[in-house]
Amino acid sequence: MAFRFLDLPAARDDMRADALAGLAAQPKFIPPKYFYDAPGCRLFEAICKQPEYAVTRTEQALMASRLPEIAAAIGAVDCILEPGAGDCSKVRVLLDALHPGQLIVLDIAGSALAPAAESLAHDYPRLDVTAIGMDFIHELDAASPHIAPGRRLIYYPGSSIGNFSPAEAVAVLARFRQLAGEAGQLLIGFDLKKDPQLLHQAYNDAAGITAAFNLNLLQRLNRELGANFDPARFRHYAFYNPQAGRIEMHLVSLVEQTVTISDQSFHFDAGESLHTENSCKYRCDEFGGIANSAGWKLKGEWAQDGFAVQLYG
Ligand code: AVJ
Repeated sequence: MAFRFLDLPAARDDMRADALAGLAAQPKFIPPKYFYDAPGCRLFEAICKQPEYAVTRTEQALMASRLPEIAAAIGAVDCILEPGAGDCSKVRVLLDALHPGQLIVLDIAGSALAPAAESLAHDYPRLDVTAIGMDFIHELDAASPHIAPGRRLIYYPGSSIGNFSPAEAVAVLARFRQLAGEAGQLLIGFDLKKDPQLLHQAYNDAAGITAAFNLNLLQRLNRELGANFDPARFRHYAFYNPQAGRIEMHLVSLVEQTVTISDQSFHFDAGESLHTENSCKYRCDEFGGIANSAGWKLKGEWAQDGFAVQLYG
């Protein structure tokens, strides 16, 4: 078994600075990457099992049923690189089909990534596994020295790209283009535009898991930054904005209140929003335009039940 874990805290973001800046901004916001502390990761896994949230299930079904075609289109690869790999469960089907020599998994939640990547390394004894705890968006170059030369495939599943605006997505995909190199490819999964009622339900599940996931952000700020948010004084509010083509998630203050983080205080009017997430939805051709702008050429496309996977080279 070949496994190593590199923690690159210097390549990770400063939640305190980001939270203070976002709470001081008008309108208030917190970047969605901060959802994923240990309870947040567990809540996200629970979201993926809710009947209303089809993203994960549909992508899994698509990857399983179209795998032979997808693998044939990709061809031989030496290294798979997965940013935001989380529990490292999604990449397994690709490992089984492509048999690369090297896997590199990156995640901002390094402490959750390391054990998941290590147990994957146990299951694939001939695979060289490197797990890197870093914020891949800002410091992708920090990963480059750890990638062996050869044919690289960047795997970015789960509609994670939806958290970026279309303009940011172009920048992210351009960095992937650089990291992948000339012979490199990108396999990316994203959620499609669909009936807004279905999208609304997916982010307002009946069991209230998405609401708990959203509100956990406040508890994380309490736990890690010593903030004094009262989650009972905020309402999870998620809706589809068809003009922007995205789900927006907010935490709306139910009362006028002041919240403090160390020595700084932040005033909320009754009804004021803290914007916590955008989740952009695309048509296949629309996403193709974004990838083209980042220097990628479409090589394959598989879509079913409102979800798409595209291959670029
Ligand atoms: C992990 C960004 C793909 O936007 O659907 C799920 C996160 N937020 N429910 C998404 C999420 C609320 C998810 N992504």
